[in-house]
Amino acid sequence: MSWLGVDIGGTKIQLVRCDDDLRVLDSRRAESPRGKILATAVELAAELAGDAKGIGIGAAGVIDPSGAVAATTEVFPGWEGTRLTDVVSRELGLPVVVDNDANAFLHGEATAGAARGYRHAFGITVGTGIGGAVISDGVLLRGASGGAGEIGHTPGFGDEPCTCGARGHLESIASGLSISRRYGQAVSAAVIADRARNGDEEARRVFAEAGAALGQAVAVVATVLDSQIAVLGGGVAGAWDLLEPTCRATVQATVLPTNADLVIETARLGAHAVAIGAAALAAQAS
Ligand code: BGC
Ligand code: NA
Repeated sequence: MSWLGVDIGGTKIQLVRCDDDLRVLDSRRAESPRGKILATAVELAAELAGDAKGIGIGAAGVIDPSGAVAATTEVFPGWEGTRLTDVVSRELGLPVVVDNDANAFLHGEATAGAARGYRHAFGITVGTGIGGAVISDGVLLRGASGGAGEIGHTPGFGDEPCTCGARGHLESIASGLSISRRYGQAVSAAVIADRARNGDEEARRVFAEAGAALGQAVAVVATVLDSQIAVLGGGVAGAWDLLEPTCRATVQATVLPTNADLVIETARLGAHAVAIGAAALAAQAS
């Protein structure tokens, strides 16, 4: 049997078709075209579907229990209220599950990646935005409205603007968009990372501050939830070499002795982690 997984992010859409063991059989990728994101995802899913028995979608934003988008950011203008489940099942005629992208990410990593075997884990995706997800006692937490784990929108990180309209969120300092804004040039976080590796002091500073902010957030979550592992994913995790020193130092300096052996690792399912996790959610729901 096979399962479709879709990752709908702020910059790109990624799709995979997986077998029961979550091996990727085929994949597709496209930019996220403003205003046509869902239509593009449905089109690519139809192309990829083959003998798939179900489809899982990991989408940026708070997804409520009915599969509707309950809250999102300026990256997805006008998405609130969209019932992704309905739209996609109508178009494709397959059972659909929809969850937040970071939830799908952590579910995938817990099933077949870095968090496998841990009962207390959390995931952070650092890309265009910052997503978060929590597994406590083996259960993926969703909260009252689907927003459990939204670590990108936790406060205490200065006073710069966030994509959600508030200020001083983790996402205001450490997301790909924020790294570009803070560096002050219209280049991607990946380009800034290369410059940092080549000794650009401003680029190094921006990444060091992002790493420290991530470390602060990791320390808060690990302390509150007594987690065993934090898994970091998303496009900006490719710059983990630049984020890691200040991230780890901040965690070590602040957590209780009981959390001092928190494992911090990057995703094992790589760039497809959200899509694979979404496929795993579809398989689990069937
Ligand atoms: C959104 C989250 C999402 C994350 C990563 C954030 O801005 O609020 O729901 O998980 O971006 O896409
Ligand atoms: Na989440």
